This record gives sequence, structure tokens and C-alpha cells, in this order.
Amino acid sequence: LENGVARTPPMGWNTWNTFGCNINETLIKQTADAMVSNGMRDLGYQYVVVDDCWMNSNRDSAGNLQPNLSRFPSGMKALGDYLHARGLKFGIYQAPLDKTCAQYFGSYPGATGSLNHEVQDAQQFAAWGVDYLKHDWCSPTGTIDDQVRIFAKMRDALAATGRPILYSINPNSIHDKTGPRRNWGDIANIWRTTEDITNKWDTGQTNGYPMGIQNIVNVTVPLASYAKPGQFNDPDMMEVGRGGMNDTEMRSHFALWAMMASPLIAGNDVRNMDSATSTIMKNQNLIAINQDTLGLQATQVSNDGTRRILAKRLSNGDVAVALFNQGGSTTTISTTASAIGLSGNSFGLREAWSNAVTSTTGNISASVPAHGTVVYRVSGGTPNPDPTPTPTPTSSTTTP
Ligand code: DGJ
Repeated sequence: LENGVARTPPMGWNTWNTFGCNINETLIKQTADAMVSNGMRDLGYQYVVVDDCWMNSNRDSAGNLQPNLSRFPSGMKALGDYLHARGLKFGIYQAPLDKTCAQYFGSYPGATGSLNHEVQDAQQFAAWGVDYLKHDWCSPTGTIDDQVRIFAKMRDALAATGRPILYSINPNSIHDKTGPRRNWGDIANIWRTTEDITNKWDTGQTNGYPMGIQNIVNVTVPLASYAKPGQFNDPDMMEVGRGGMNDTEMRSHFALWAMMASPLIAGNDVRNMDSATSTIMKNQNLIAINQDTLGLQATQVSNDGTRRILAKRLSNGDVAVALFNQGGSTTTISTTASAIGLSGNSFGLREAWSNAVTSTTGNISASVPAHGTVVYRVSGGTPNPDPTPTPTPTSSTTTP
């Protein structure tokens, strides 16, 4: 979506993965303070997104949305001001039909969706200083055409406010369980590619609920051609630091999200991070690969079921390559500079985790532990005009 924002994938934090409905303004403020003091903000994590369960069950007499005042007694404008004063941006959640997701599942009584209130709600968000809207289609009803029409209504209502507001949508509730039905880049800045992520490596799902890291990668890699500045596939908020994976798997999760030009939205409690989590989330080599201004998603070079190789072309002519071991034991994964679209006789390889630089005449290889991912930034070559193949999505697509 060409609305001036999300020129690179958004970075930030969202309440949902750790806190679900148990949210309030103290939690948001403490998290914002932590993101400033622990350095996350300065590394690019700027959006603080309040997910479902912030709302009151009724609109006011003028039809305006109201916060749940026992959770947000100071109101949403004050919360936005608090974030802006700290150099952060304010994200909020809404649903496009009548109910939010937590209402559908019965865990939160009150809320009121945006259907036929799009203009009023967009104006309200702008007045509160909202910089990011997550719009979550939870109803299992509706056709793809309904989704296009109703998501576009909010897109236009946001644009009419004159405030730059990043537009994040989740169209998954009615998908066909094989991936998104269309490229949503004409409607939103980011769109979820799958059902909800969970805190596990692999749940065996192809695109049902809940999705593990490996499962989400399987769905999202083939969608690479959809990504560009202003529009990115969203494989969901991260589960790094949530305890359901070993350190190798958490590193892989972060590295693959970086390579897929995915939003890097932390889902852990960033007030209390152990050092492994903090080191992963703050890896500057991977953040730079994710935030590269070309805005390309890595494309697949090869995948034999165990050894999966992805390559992402970068704005300075370097290419990032991920050697991803999907198998259960250590294996060697190898490719070449030529296979990732670089010509030349000598290349530098900067390994993302250790920052160690080695050189090669063309072979690129590493011993990779089970579920691990080694990422090299390859420099010194000449990019071929069309360095990486563009895989086509596996699912069917519809046009606007
Ligand atoms: C479903 C979404 O996929 C989640 O990310 C979260 O926003 C919940 N709904 C909130 O109810």
C-alpha cells in the first residue's frame, strides 16, 4: 500500500502472544520504558501495539469507541502521548465486522467492531495519535470479496484522516488453509499469511491452528513476490523468548523472519528478557538484512526437504544467504555465490551470529545443527541482473 509508511518491515512489540487479554496501561508503559532502556527502540523496534481487549463494550452516545476504563483509566490519547514522548509509535487493534476475536472465543465480553463505523473509527484513531492499526477479521463468515471490500473501506478511511497510519490486516479466518488467497498489497501494508503462531517449532499444521515456526515458513516462503517497500507478508508476531523452543530454534526463527522481510514484532515480555533472547532480538546483522531498503523477501534457491537455502538481495549489491536445516540432526549445507546470483572470483562472508568474516572463491557452506539457520552476508561480487528466481505462490489468487 502506497501510504508512505512501512517502506521497510515494521518493528515493534505486541501484547497478544504473552498477555492475551490481560492488558492495561501500566503494562504498556512499563514495556515502552523497557524498550527505551534496553536499546530495542534505538535498534528500530518502534511500534507498541495494543492488541485485542482494550475496548469497552459500548460506543458512547455519539457512537465513538471507548476504552475499557478499568484497564486504561487515562484513556488512549494519553497512552499515545506517553509513547510518542519516548520516541515510540502507537498501535491499536480493531476488528472489521461486529466483534473482535476475543469476543468470538468468549474470553472478553465487550468490544465493538468497525463495520459501518469505518470513517468514525479511523478519525478516532487519528485523534488518539494512532500510528498503526491491526485489523483482525475473526469471523469465519464472509467471502473473499467481502474481505476485499470491507478491508478497503478502512484503508480509505485511514487515508482520509491525513495521518500516516500503518495498516495491518489479518484475513485468515476464512482462508482455504493453504495460504493467503490474494496479494493484499493494494489494500494493506502488511497481511498475515497464516493462522496464529504458537510457541513451538512444528505443530504439523499446513495452515490450521496453531502454526509452528517451520509450518509458517513453509507457507510464507512461496509468497516472496508479494513483498516490496510499503507491502510485506506478515508471518505473525515472534515467539522468541517465550520458552517453547531451544536457543538454536529461536535463532532460526529470528533469522528466517529477517530473511523473509517479515515484520519483526516481539511477542515476549521485553521487560524480562534473558540474555539469549536479548542477543537474538538485537542482532544487528539480521536487523540490517530485514530492514534493507530494497524491501525484498528472500527467495528460495533450493529445498531438498532437509536443506533449505534462501537468498535475499540487498541494496548495496550484497546478497544474504540462509542455510536452514529442517532436519533433526546436524548436516552440512552448501551452495555457491553463482547460485545466489553473484558473479566474481572472491567474496567476503560475514556470518550473522558471530560477525566473523571469511573469504571464498565461490563455495558457501556450513555445518548446521538440527533446526538451525546459518546466515551469511556475501559481499564483493557483482549481482546478476536477475539474481534470484521468483517462485509463484502455491495457492490460488483473486484480483481486486
Ligand atoms: C487473532 C489474531 O490472529 C491474533 O494475532 C490476535 O490479534 C487475536 N486474534 C486477538 O483476539
